[in-house]
Amino acid sequence: MKFFVDTADIDAIRDLSELGIVDGVTTNPSLIMKSGRDIKEVTKEICDLVDGPVSAETIALDAEGMVAEGRELAKIADNITIKVPLTWEGLKACKTLTGEGRMVNVTLCFSANQALLAAKAGATFISPFIGRLDDLNLDGMDLIAEIRQIYDNYGFETEILAASIRSVNHMKQAALIGADVATAPPGVIKSMASHVMTDKGLEGFLKDWEKTGQKIL
Ligand code: E4P
Repeated sequence: MKFFVDTADIDAIRDLSELGIVDGVTTNPSLIMKSGRDIKEVTKEICDLVDGPVSAETIALDAEGMVAEGRELAKIADNITIKVPLTWEGLKACKTLTGEGRMVNVTLCFSANQALLAAKAGATFISPFIGRLDDLNLDGMDLIAEIRQIYDNYGFETEILAASIRSVNHMKQAALIGADVATAPPGVIKSMASHVMTDKGLEGFLKDWEKTGQKIL
């Protein structure tokens, strides 16, 4: 499973990149707002830092506007993925932009039928929003499983990009189901390394080591 980071925070992306685990980045208008930066400026910096796809989202509601914005965003760097919403207009924009050989991430997906349409429209990535479904007392992971089955049934190449991830458990479940990519906030990715038994075990080893009076270096 590829790891994308869901943020426009350059320092956080740099920090995770040091481990070589960042396969891409996703941003959205809310994350750009949070960064307080100019969209083109911050997106360019992210693209320079990360080799993989960097999603930048359009804000027009009509296909023509999305295509125009998408082409403009694509000028930022070669690894830009244009993010369009899963509306009928977004699907039309997806068709046009992928026809031009550009990567397109169809976002705000909340049903298997929406995902099926996005694949038919040639989307590079489909972004089902797990956490926001969980917020409605639904199970976001059921959606990932349904899309996995449908895409496998017909050999669609659109990659399932599990989005709106809120916990380490979401990461594990997305990996178990077979999502191609998971995009998560930096804090969630870092938390995957934590376990209370690891901390406890380490504490015990260090206490005993002190008693030996030895040094390694
Ligand atoms: C995905 O590309 C979105 O940017 C993101 O995952 C949305 O997550 P949220 O529901 O936590 O805002």
